[in-house]
Amino acid sequence: MVDKATKRRFLLPFAGHSLTPPPIWLMRQAGRYLPEYRAVRAKAGGFLDLCYAPELAAEVTLQPIRRYGFDAAILFSDILVVPHALGQQVEFVEGEGPRLEPVREEEDLRRLNGAATRSTFRIVCETVARLRQDLPDATALIGFCGAPWTVATYMVAGRGTPDQADARLWAYRDPQGFSKLIDLLVEASIDYLSMQVDAGADALQIFDTWAGSLPPAQFDQWVVEPTARIVKSVRARHRDVPIIGFPRGAGQKMHGYAMLTKVQGLGCDTGMQPGHMADLARAQGVVVQGNVDPLLLVAGGSELERQVAAILSGLKGVPHVFNLGHGIVPETPPDNVARLVELVRRGP
Ligand code: CP3
Repeated sequence: MVDKATKRRFLLPFAGHSLTPPPIWLMRQAGRYLPEYRAVRAKAGGFLDLCYAPELAAEVTLQPIRRYGFDAAILFSDILVVPHALGQQVEFVEGEGPRLEPVREEEDLRRLNGAATRSTFRIVCETVARLRQDLPDATALIGFCGAPWTVATYMVAGRGTPDQADARLWAYRDPQGFSKLIDLLVEASIDYLSMQVDAGADALQIFDTWAGSLPPAQFDQWVVEPTARIVKSVRARHRDVPIIGFPRGAGQKMHGYAMLTKVQGLGCDTGMQPGHMADLARAQGVVVQGNVDPLLLVAGGSELERQVAAILSGLKGVPHVFNLGHGIVPETPPDNVARLVELVRRGP
């Protein structure tokens, strides 16, 4: 990694360097806020068709790099590719979001036919390989998966939910049955992430968007423990690849999460103060990533300048990767993103 790190700024904080300005990329940096994304998306047909078309998926991954020169690109795909690869029916309904055939109890797991899992992952890895060829040498490539808990919340409810009630109820009523689903996802995620590194990913992020809906004991059981298993196995195969965990909404449980999962990077949501992020980085020896409010990027203006300056000065001397606290939303004016990059690169 030392070699790659010298070429790719994004990797330097993971080798212990605090950079001024910090490297920057944004969650969901490829997407509907960009007119050039909407044009490719219209050509591809369905959203999953775009995820499984390596040439087009690589193209939309590159679009924000060309426009803004981010320090890292993130593979264009979706966390729901894993349940799809495991044999669950997954659709993205225009204007509504994902719809899956729900898996509600242990018995339903038998319906999942994993015969095509590897071949589906291989298609996504074609995008990764293509990207590593097409990206500038200085741009790192981030691979990703959803964390088992977050992916399970969609698999169980069959859609996105405000409170993840269906998965929480199954996990309380039948922890043993639910753990079979989590184990299935752990194994698939280990395979999927390792394949992405083999294909050319420089770093990995595990998105746990709904980690915040669990009380402490269940957080340990369904967020920390499965993530720890993924990190351990992926790093046994790929010793140097930095792994960033993003347990959104984890609050005070971030310290335990970092300590027990052994991730090298911690994605911080918008609720965390820069001072608290700096404490986390020092206490746990991790890189912290984040955490501008995506809605502030929609609004822009002087409050955006103020928040960026507070994050930059609060994290000076700390291994930090600049990012949002969650994904870019479609209403974001592309000019505000250019302004954000300029503010970060200019410094506080
Ligand atoms: O960050 C990137 O640019 C890489 C690509 C990426 C997408 N989704 C593309 C996408 C990544 C890393 C994701 C992760 C993802 N997907 C998460 C975790 C992070 C988060 O945002 O919380 C989750 C929960 C999903 C599931 C998902 N995918 C939902 C709920 C939806 C529908 C809501 C929406 O924004 O439309 C998607 C669709 C999706 N994934 C789109 C994109 C660009 C929009 C689809 C379109 O073009 O119509």
